Amino acid sequence: MKFSNTLIYWYLQNNRELPWRKTKNPYFVWLSEIMLQQTRVAQGMAYYLKFTDKFPTVFDLAKAEESRVLKMWQGLGYYSRARNLHYTAKQVAKELNGQFPATYKELLKLKGIGDYTASAIASICFNEPNAVVDGNVYRVLSRYFGIKTPINSSAGIKEFKTLAQTLIDTAQSGTYNQAIMDFGALHCKPQNPLCETCPLADSCVALEKKLIKELPVKEKKIKVRNRYFNFLVIKTEDETTILSQRKGKGIWQGLYQFPLIEGTESINKNELIASKEFVNLFPNETTISLFNKKEIVHKLSHQHLHTQFWIVETKFASKATIKWSEIEKYPVPVLIANFLEVYQPKSN
Ligand code: ADE
Repeated sequence: MKFSNTLIYWYLQNNRELPWRKTKNPYFVWLSEIMLQQTRVAQGMAYYLKFTDKFPTVFDLAKAEESRVLKMWQGLGYYSRARNLHYTAKQVAKELNGQFPATYKELLKLKGIGDYTASAIASICFNEPNAVVDGNVYRVLSRYFGIKTPINSSAGIKEFKTLAQTLIDTAQSGTYNQAIMDFGALHCKPQNPLCETCPLADSCVALEKKLIKELPVKEKKIKVRNRYFNFLVIKTEDETTILSQRKGKGIWQGLYQFPLIEGTESINKNELIASKEFVNLFPNETTISLFNKKEIVHKLSHQHLHTQFWIVETKFASKATIKWSEIEKYPVPVLIANFLEVYQPKSN
């Protein structure tokens, strides 16, 4: 049987019942595809249900405050996705009367929509035969065809897209695209793939040459950067604190955080108090204690954040405008949300 037919046949018997598969509405498909990038279906599901419940149309999403969108995105990571999502919702609502473009080429022009998302929406909603290439597709194709080109090299990205495009079933491209992604996620898994029961086993190069564990090939990752964060959790007498919004490029753009002193290594209380930044922030008397005796190491894809939360009690701090009782309204990075789950400021 043809490669695409085998996958579609497998998919018809094994596909996952997912809420966004019940619709061809590009708004819902777009939401799901943005959420599922770098995120597992099991994790993305709750977010999809929450977003479609609170924002049933693109106009509802467009009308929302950005901080509300970021707050609802909290925990999914890669926050530029949420900001782009909101930006694009506003554009579609205002400039396109709420209608998503119906072609791959036009979809690509929208912020946050790259080759993958444009292919997914164009094929699923409009049956335009554009092949998706996500992590699952790289794995299935590299194994089945025995391709050793690194999937994260520019040569690999081109080679796999071209190959994927030759394999697509043009009459049912949306089904084919979802079939190969599900097949990668459920059958041709990264670890312990189900080769004994694989419908493609007869012609799989990696299986024949015992290369399953070697494929796909990835170029060496860039080095992890270690960063040392000291968050100053301020508690004034009248139960206020300081949070500020992260600006500029870098992690957590737009999210809120406690005042941060970053160093080149872990520091102790005396070193903290002696630092210029601390003295600038707190010229007056304070009581300081380290909340987490053991450093928290929060791992992002290319950064390890060695983190200490310092509780700083002070009578008054000029920038402390946020009431502790309202802190949960602010979108914060998961690292800070986890801290807030366990830290309860005691009343004086
Ligand atoms: N991962 C991301 N989008 C998907 C989809 N539509 N089907 C299967 N897996 C996916």
